[in-house]
Amino acid sequence: MSLIEKAGATVLKGSFDKKDAPKTKNKKKPVALAAAAEAEAPAPPEREPFDLDFAALSKEGIYSPEDRSSQLALELRAVKRRLLRRIGYLRASAERQAFRTPGKQRNLILVTSTRAGEGKTFTAINLALSLAFEDQIETLLVDADLARPKVRERLALPAAPGLADRLLDPRRDVEAMGWRSNAAPLSVLPEGDRFDRPADIFASQKAQEMWTDIARANPNRLVIIDAPPVLAATDAVILAKYADEIVFVVEANSTPEAAVAAAVDELIDINPNISLMLNRCQIGAGGAHYGSYEYYDRSEAAPASAAATPSSEG
Ligand SMILES: Nc1ncnc2c1ncn2[C@@H]1O[C@H](COP(=O)(O)OP(=O)(O)O)[C@@H](O)[C@H]1O
Ligand SMILES: [Mg+2]
Repeated sequence: MSLIEKAGATVLKGSFDKKDAPKTKNKKKPVALAAAAEAEAPAPPEREPFDLDFAALSKEGIYSPEDRSSQLALELRAVKRRLLRRIGYLRASAERQAFRTPGKQRNLILVTSTRAGEGKTFTAINLALSLAFEDQIETLLVDADLARPKVRERLALPAAPGLADRLLDPRRDVEAMGWRSNAAPLSVLPEGDRFDRPADIFASQKAQEMWTDIARANPNRLVIIDAPPVLAATDAVILAKYADEIVFVVEANSTPEAAVAAAVDELIDINPNISLMLNRCQIGAGGAHYGSYEYYDRSEAAPASAAATPSSEG
């Protein structure tokens, strides 16, 4: 069942600076040919705003804006607060101003983990929904797990061009390919066409330019990237180069500590801004989704884990 509504609101418009546009390598191309190539650039389809079926989502344990006092909503609040503080989004005046300055903002947040099935997609979706619906923060959720994309399926969005298509063709406009929620400042960039060797393309210059474009398109926007696991392929490590903050999901009582250490070890030299998040943590009678959210301190041998008490930070 598709939840796309045939409503009449506009799609998110592209807002790239010309100077940020990817430079064409073929400088010798005759002007007329270049113009013809421009004209052939695929026009992205105008996407209609989508509606989320929160009743169905909450059955799967996913955030629902109606349920503000749920355990998950409380846990997410604590996670978000720490995350926003770490990237400088919550800080006052000067630092907040720096966040808004193109090139200085730290708005690309990569969600990864050791291996498949530990809750990366669950976490990425929950964070994005909670930021957009509860805090009204402009949020873009990107499915960058090209081998096992799950965001679209989870949000009941139809197949459509997305990240892989933009990586293969820089003329495509990321902003126009995003599905836009009709109820909150949330866009979703799906995985797009199937692509067999994501690592090659993630490592390209084109990819780097694309992430810069996405970060700069709106300095106030947070970009949540649902990444592949670290130990499955090199994609996540490559993506970590572009990210400003890494949320590393650890499945409580399941992910072996040695595997976490190996995966974090791979990431930390590329990008030391890693926060560990303990998923499926059982605390107290009701159980909890997120038990811990800690900054990874490389001086510590094992990940810190303290129960997050959501009420203490307002
Ligand atoms: N804290 C949680 N509470 C309930 N279900 C969860 C939780 N974390 C993960 N899941 C479920 O476990 C499955 C695997 O999670 P998923 O996010 O798809 O893993 P990954 O993206 O790391 O491969 C999904 O069905 C997801 O909904
Ligand atoms: Mg996933």
